[in-house]
Amino acid sequence: MAVVPGDGIGPEVIREAVRVAEAVQGRETGDGRDFVFAELPLGADRYLAEGVAISEEEFRAIRDEHDAILLGALGDPRVPGNEHAKDILLGMRRRLDLYVNHRPAALLSQELSPLRRARLPTRIDIFRENTEGAYCGLGGSFKKGAADEIAIEEDLNTRGGVERIVRAAFEFARSRGRKRVTLVDKSNVQRFAGRLYRRVFAEVASEFGEIRADSAYVDAAAMDLVRRPDRYEVIVTSNLFGDILSDLAAAVTGGLGLAASVNYRPGGHALFEPVHGSAPDIAGLGRANPLGAIRCVAMMLEWFGEPDRAAVVEKAVGDSVAHGAKTPDIGGSATTAEVGEWVAERAAAPAG
Ligand code: NAD
Ligand code: IPM
Ligand code: MN
Repeated sequence: MAVVPGDGIGPEVIREAVRVAEAVQGRETGDGRDFVFAELPLGADRYLAEGVAISEEEFRAIRDEHDAILLGALGDPRVPGNEHAKDILLGMRRRLDLYVNHRPAALLSQELSPLRRARLPTRIDIFRENTEGAYCGLGGSFKKGAADEIAIEEDLNTRGGVERIVRAAFEFARSRGRKRVTLVDKSNVQRFAGRLYRRVFAEVASEFGEIRADSAYVDAAAMDLVRRPDRYEVIVTSNLFGDILSDLAAAVTGGLGLAASVNYRPGGHALFEPVHGSAPDIAGLGRANPLGAIRCVAMMLEWFGEPDRAAVVEKAVGDSVAHGAKTPDIGGSATTAEVGEWVAERAAAPAG
């Protein structure tokens, strides 16, 4: 595993994720394969000092010498355009063609939700297209700085790109026995991209007759995620809508600090990251919730075919929320490290 702790709370939460991964290693369940972590000091400090976010050599080392990547977060007030995040995070998504961004919002406790009196789903799985859409960096400005400045931001969608993310969502639903997949788009306005999504979605859905396929406009979907979130099981959507809805779904199911995600290409690399950012407002204070990063470890174990160890980590995370150490964002008073220690102890392989 290449580890990129990154900026702000990134290193604080990744330290705890690695602690938990190391604790669960010795457990005699899976086939005994161990994680080996190699840390890469990429982030705002490095970018500001050297003017380079990630060198060609570093990118190739990640690609050729590692199976997967664990990333904290990238973002620093000193880099307002987030150029280094574009090169590192968006760069890996694009250059390793990690076209699926799977972001499960999984409810650990009804009490953690601001909608605790609503009928909540146990989880909503968002499948976010991860290599195109509004994230291509295509466009430009004209008459920059003038009173009549023009800015163009392109939204690029390919048939193949749409088909493979829609297919990933349906295949996930089939393999997990989920009954419903919802396409979220804005096809009432985006006549070209939105309707491409609708057409391809209908075609792919016809191959998955046992799964109910429906669609929603993104504005209404945002409302429904708050009003009746149990309407959703699996959501498939474009890059930008997926970014926005994944924070919303995380908040509804307990908080941004609890949400994990994986960016992957089937048969290729996988990049695991908590859904949250570098949270400069709480960086360095020991207040960051490490559970999103720790749940990335469970997703890593799933990815590498070790569901038993993954379940051990998820159980330890659930126990910490139910009756263990918790950070202030979910109503506790423990520090980041205390939560990490608590979970690592429960996830640890028995002595001997
Ligand atoms: P953010 O996710 O960093 O923070 C939003 C709010 O949630 C803040 O109030 C923060 O304190 C809180 N929060 C986030 N994670 C938390 C945690 N683990 N525990 C407790 N509270 C937590 O979003 P932002 O403030 O919009 O962005 C900050 C920076 O992070 C920006 O530079 C942004 O571009 C970057 N960012 C990076 C990633 C990534 O690298 N994956 C993701 C999102 C944002
Ligand atoms: C995320 C982040 C990134 C995104 C930013 C930091 C580029 O918000 O992973 O959700 O927009 O994809
Ligand atoms: Mn985001």
